[in-house]
Amino acid sequence: MALFPESEAIFLKGLPSVPSAGDRLRQSDLARSYRQMAKGGVAWFYQGDFARRTAEWMKAHGGVVTAADFDRYEVVPREPVRGTYRGYEIVSFPPPSSGGVHVVEILNILERFDLAAMGDDSAEFAHVVAEAMKLAFADRARWLGDPDFARVPRGLVSKEYAAELARRIRLDRASVVASAGTPPETDRDWFTRERNRHTTHFSTADTEGNWVACTASLNTSFGSKVVVPGTGLLLNNHMDDFSAQPGVPNYFGLVGAEANAIEARKRPLSSMSPTLVLRDGQPILSVGAAGGPTIISQTLLAILRVIDFKKSPREALAAPRLHHQWKPDELHLERAWGEAVIAELRRRGHTVAVDASLGAAQAVGRDAQGQWSAAADPRGEGAAGVW
Ligand code: DON
Repeated sequence: MALFPESEAIFLKGLPSVPSAGDRLRQSDLARSYRQMAKGGVAWFYQGDFARRTAEWMKAHGGVVTAADFDRYEVVPREPVRGTYRGYEIVSFPPPSSGGVHVVEILNILERFDLAAMGDDSAEFAHVVAEAMKLAFADRARWLGDPDFARVPRGLVSKEYAAELARRIRLDRASVVASAGTPPETDRDWFTRERNRHTTHFSTADTEGNWVACTASLNTSFGSKVVVPGTGLLLNNHMDDFSAQPGVPNYFGLVGAEANAIEARKRPLSSMSPTLVLRDGQPILSVGAAGGPTIISQTLLAILRVIDFKKSPREALAAPRLHHQWKPDELHLERAWGEAVIAELRRRGHTVAVDASLGAAQAVGRDAQGQWSAAADPRGEGAAGVW
């Protein structure tokens, strides 16, 4: 951040002292920006002062973003991804995020296994979930991208396709997933527009029946680390969410293909997975996470723990996590799984990497008795409350 005087002045204030807990961080430019947004609405951002200041910064530093790019930007409302899991309805984030597609794809695969009988702290459970993740992340690398540019097959979330993938899973050992699958052709392109480690997820609900799952991101910590002078606002570095070259890993080790290649006006692929789970048409869970591709795994595991293992949101978020993204071929396990489970998964042929902690999720739920509960990830700071 010290490369950019504006960022240094706000966040570092005279190296090498990084603000620590208890210090006061005063963001008066950011406060002014928020006031201007409250007064001038989105126009301040896309057509006004912020667009102009960013364009000036870009010009002075050899960047390519112009005020016209801001002016041309539009938010695109899209049809959510919908699926079902053991009688529950899943509603999640559509492309250009891969989140919803793969949460639903993995749930479809796992529906074919009796997870509840395995216990969610067992090697059997971790193995079968990891195998399903591997298959889905191979599909992600091949098929996923901005649906305005790439054809993202709707068949990825079909039950029929999941049945075919589930047949490839062996319970006794880790399989080698050589490449993506071929989802069945479906009659229409679903993921098109509906015309008519700086990520934050919020899950909220109220007694009037409004439920929200919302994820926002600058991508990695402090994004590009550039604060646009005078605004207090950091620019993101989501360009890294594109696949720069087929097979070349990005910051999170993810690989991609043409579907997620860089093109003008195209949106990069994401893993953000804000998700609502419904029972009989009524929401029972709002969940999502931060943490790059582990967002998909965290969201999936929270849903499994609530549906298959009848855990509360708090218990669901506290339980040990795993993550497999196909490439690199590594099964990430939180240490909390314990030595025995970790050893058993190695024995089944997984290359295991042990992490102290994996991700940060948030959830709000309502149980069958109508009791509300809200949970912030116990791995991080912060708290959740029901009021
Ligand atoms: O949208 C995505 O897929 C990622 N770039 C999100 C990055 C992220 O979660 C980093 N934070 N914790």
